[in-house]
Amino acid sequence: MIHNFSAGPCILPQDVFEEASKAVKDFNGLSILEISHRSDDFVAVIEEARRLVKEILNVPENYTVLFLQGGASLGFLISALNMMRENKTGAYINTGTWSTKAIKEVKFTGGNEVVVASSEDKNFSYIPKKISIPKNVDYLHFTSNNTIYGTQFKKHNFNTNLPIVCDMSSDIFSKKIDVSKYDLIYAGAQKNIGPAGTTLYIVKNDILNKSSLPIPSMLDLAKHVKGDSMFNTPPVFSIYVSILNFYPRLNF
Ligand SMILES: Cc1ncc(COP(=O)(O)O)c(C=O)c1O
Repeated sequence: MIHNFSAGPCILPQDVFEEASKAVKDFNGLSILEISHRSDDFVAVIEEARRLVKEILNVPENYTVLFLQGGASLGFLISALNMMRENKTGAYINTGTWSTKAIKEVKFTGGNEVVVASSEDKNFSYIPKKISIPKNVDYLHFTSNNTIYGTQFKKHNFNTNLPIVCDMSSDIFSKKIDVSKYDLIYAGAQKNIGPAGTTLYIVKNDILNKSSLPIPSMLDLAKHVKGDSMFNTPPVFSIYVSILNFYPRLNF
């Protein structure tokens, strides 16, 4: 497998560009850029995208795969809003710029955050070993790979029964994972999936409709699950190109 250590959008294979440009000109008679997201052609695209994610990552039955918008940066807020329970507090491991940003978003939910481990003292150059999680928190959030400094959690074992939320933007699909260990995974597409424009969410169905905070409709994962990722108009082209990029990964 080829790894791209340059932060920024991913390199897409040449054959993906070729297929994608054909679809821009003609996708069953129309351009992929102008088809309705309610058309049979696009429903087939999004179903295929979900099927591929499930197949490649071996996603268990009790999880839903969503393709939303807003980037992983909106995922910071979406994850916090959807995971807050009676304690209205999330536990965060701070291992870099993106975890720091995720932590900063919590205050906008009306809930609180507690940093349970951090490598900020040495400019995020290591993964903290000691994590002490207080009692009254609702979930544990971490960033699996620190995109900017390159520090990555090799193991995701935190010795806790808390629901686990992971921002996997820059290492999802780079290795096999056991999805059943997580309650919520999110990842912006542009690093490891396809072009910018869509954000992948892998949601354990149990977490839906349990937040203790009011959630605006567009940030409510339950609404997106109910709408099959089409609560609003999905980013059609980005999802289509992601499918093309998923195909070579089927055997990874
Ligand atoms: C780990 C991680 N989280 C979040 C983000 C922010 O993603 P987006 O630009 O999709 O909001 C990035 C972007 O590089 C990232 O690497």
